[in-house]
Amino acid sequence: MLSQEMNEFLTRTGPRTPMGDLLRRYWIPALLDSELPEPDCAPVRVKLLGEKLVAFRDTDGRLGLIDEFCAHRGVSLWFGRNEECGLRCPYHGWKYDVTGQCVDLPSEAAESGMRERIKLKSYPCAELGGVIWAYMGPPEHKPPLPNFEWATLPPSHRVITKRWQESNYLQALEGGMDSSHVSFLHSGEMNTDPFHRNTGGARLVKSTKTTFDILDQPGGLLIGARRDADAGKSYWRITQYIMPWYTLIPPYANNALNGHAWVPMDDENCMAWTMTFHPTAPIPEKDIELFMNGAGVHAELIPGTFRPKANKDNDYLIDRAKQKSGEHYNGVRGLAIQDASVQESIGVIADRSTENLVATDNAIIMARQRLAQAAKEVQGGRKPPGLEPADQTVRSASFIIPKDANFKERALDAVKYRKGVPHVAV
Ligand code: FES
Ligand SMILES: [Fe+2]
Repeated sequence: MLSQEMNEFLTRTGPRTPMGDLLRRYWIPALLDSELPEPDCAPVRVKLLGEKLVAFRDTDGRLGLIDEFCAHRGVSLWFGRNEECGLRCPYHGWKYDVTGQCVDLPSEAAESGMRERIKLKSYPCAELGGVIWAYMGPPEHKPPLPNFEWATLPPSHRVITKRWQESNYLQALEGGMDSSHVSFLHSGEMNTDPFHRNTGGARLVKSTKTTFDILDQPGGLLIGARRDADAGKSYWRITQYIMPWYTLIPPYANNALNGHAWVPMDDENCMAWTMTFHPTAPIPEKDIELFMNGAGVHAELIPGTFRPKANKDNDYLIDRAKQKSGEHYNGVRGLAIQDASVQESIGVIADRSTENLVATDNAIIMARQRLAQAAKEVQGGRKPPGLEPADQTVRSASFIIPKDANFKERALDAVKYRKGVPHVAV
């Protein structure tokens, strides 16, 4: 349970909020690189941490992320003409370059100096790992580019999608580190989903008796969830929480690894990014097709949008017969939309003052504490955690060990990033 005050503290991410200041210290996944495929392509609206922005790629291929609205009389530059190294407002022709500087103001005489004084807010961008990243924090604190395994693998070894979730980022992030819900909410898919069924993990994860061992790490949390395996052994699933909004799901056998980034668009919406990647093998075309159709932890989207086909306006296409039969535990198809349906059902911003938390919620409690602590440290002028390359190059894992074996030792070894070596999984 949290006080209303602490709930506000953790869930408000707009400019000049403590959490907003913290989150602005990290590179933010802003767009898929495929959203800006070529020079002078159509600009894209982007909402991040409550700020309305427009992204474009100029004639020279440079990326711009600037205030969505024209400095003249506020027209959305999403309607702008992306031409000759700038975005031109269609209303009266004011034009901006990738830094937000006005480079043409046709109605004013050059001598007035007016044009030079007009500059829109802009944020630096970088392209890495199939993602266009933005940095919205103080320039003097800009960290090195992210170093996640999925971002540094060859493009053939990863698939990245994103879906719009109509809730605050925190309840989505909490779902990403909540290892105990798999035995319930996703239990149907453990029998049917092509990326889960027929793995040792899919069978063992159905045990609903889960205990946790959580290790505080410099960049986040290593969340160990234990279930009984056969013959006096323990089945451990290691979820990673990497600050501020990344989670890595424990893998199933040799299937690709999966991770998420839960990025606030504003306080009532977030973008759920899904990164599927394999350390040693390309992702087959046929698998990509299945992901686009909602298999694994991806969602089927309304074409041309990032809104899932099954969404809150159609009750996530719930099928009560399949809920009864157990094919889909809550009647909703697919792991991603199951998560979205339950998390959105809480309300756009979960009221954490009325919760009744239990032992299986410990990772969530610890993550909230880490976020609050980091936000306070940033307010106090200190550097937030999770920015070191070593914090980011960790893996999730799953393994079976004797009940009395040393969990910590095994876990810390299993999650090590080893270039060119497959992940540890059952
Ligand atoms: S509103 Fe953009 S040029 Fe006038
Ligand atoms: Fe889930």
